[in-house]
Amino acid sequence: MTTTSVSTFSAPKGTYDLIPPDSAEFLAVREALAAPLRRAGYGYVETPGFEQVELFSRGVGESTDIVTKEMYTLTTRGGDELALRPEGTASVLRAALQANLHRGALPVKLWYSGSYYRYERPQAGRYRHFSQIGAEALGAEDPALDAELIILADDAYRSLGLRGFRLLLNSLGDRECRPVYRAALQEFLRRLDLDEETRRRIEINPLRVLDDKREAVQRQLTDAPMMRDHLCEACKAYHEQVRELLTAAGVAFEDDPRLVRGLDYYTRTTFEFVHDGLGSQSAVGGGGRYDGLSEMIGGPELPSVGWALGVDRTVLALRAEGVRPQVAAGPRVYAVPLGEEARRTLFGVVTRLRREGVAADFAFGGKGLKNAMKSANRSGARWALVLGERDLAEGTVQLKDLESGEQEAVPLDRVVTAVQAKVG
Ligand code: HAM
Repeated sequence: MTTTSVSTFSAPKGTYDLIPPDSAEFLAVREALAAPLRRAGYGYVETPGFEQVELFSRGVGESTDIVTKEMYTLTTRGGDELALRPEGTASVLRAALQANLHRGALPVKLWYSGSYYRYERPQAGRYRHFSQIGAEALGAEDPALDAELIILADDAYRSLGLRGFRLLLNSLGDRECRPVYRAALQEFLRRLDLDEETRRRIEINPLRVLDDKREAVQRQLTDAPMMRDHLCEACKAYHEQVRELLTAAGVAFEDDPRLVRGLDYYTRTTFEFVHDGLGSQSAVGGGGRYDGLSEMIGGPELPSVGWALGVDRTVLALRAEGVRPQVAAGPRVYAVPLGEEARRTLFGVVTRLRREGVAADFAFGGKGLKNAMKSANRSGARWALVLGERDLAEGTVQLKDLESGEQEAVPLDRVVTAVQAKVG
């Protein structure tokens, strides 16, 4: 995430490269966020990085910022209108419908990991290319499924050692009660003192007005009607069950009647995980139920629920808390050859060690002993194998403990077993 550069080209604005050692932290976070999903029966899905523009304009919503301002669109030579995917839900549902997964056992539970693209104003925690781990459970209307997903996200964050996050929960109603509420909200909003653009928003997407961050707008919204007070009996009962299941699982949440998500497909359960150490970009993850999305993109009725967690923001949140995720171990053994023949022999030993599952590295580039030992120490390996001419003549190799400095000669023909015994 640093921007100093000595090369001619730099990563485009709002993007950054993942390079060691930070990249190990990202991999560890991706792994940890996905692990609870694998345990809960979610299967891995991967879709293209671009789709037809219309999938997102119909799915995410014509009036959302994502569709109107933030999509990277292109016209192919063949005349197709494509967009780099700004989110994963519409694509995953499209893929499931295309493969007829919805005709099999339901719910279809899928997880994914990948890059997403939004032309946003870049700032800390907000990028034009970012990474999500997502989960979608398609084809079941069951509060336990909503609760399962929320619990899995909570477990995922906790397994990383993240503590300073809060879960905000709301219900946005369904096709019965939402239109009634929408009309009541519009009527209220039309009476307020608002600018032209916001007035237009009242007619297209009044719920988004509730999310307006400006103080002058918020001040007028104190008495705005709330979805909570307009939920139909079925939505109320459904939401109550989700809340009870979360409470029984020990997952703390805050009811947030003003939680409106930036995508139009949500119905009933909506939620967001926010972290207070991130400044204005506080959402580390979010999701909800989208019972009408399948029909919106031309599919059958398929009530579904899902979430996506931001990998970049989770890494920032961990850093803000001073928590370092457990990263995969580097090499255990570092091989240092002295001379041409030793190089060939020891390279063979490294290959055999790796084939036996021992993480090993090698002093490449014909370094002298001093430089090679420096590299050995820097590699993080606990052990070094040093092979000089005299060792070669005696058919041995020096196995050195880089922590204590002690070393012993082990027979070359038994070196793999000897190293395995040490590294365990
Ligand atoms: P979303 O809230 O737009 O939801 O994004 C989910 C998460 O992705 C956010 O909470 C945030 O952590 C991360 N994120 C979004 N935009 C950026 C950005 N510009 N830079 C860095 N991180 C970002 C969705 O995408 C829905 N598809 C979630 C979902 C799945 N709902 C149902 N199923």
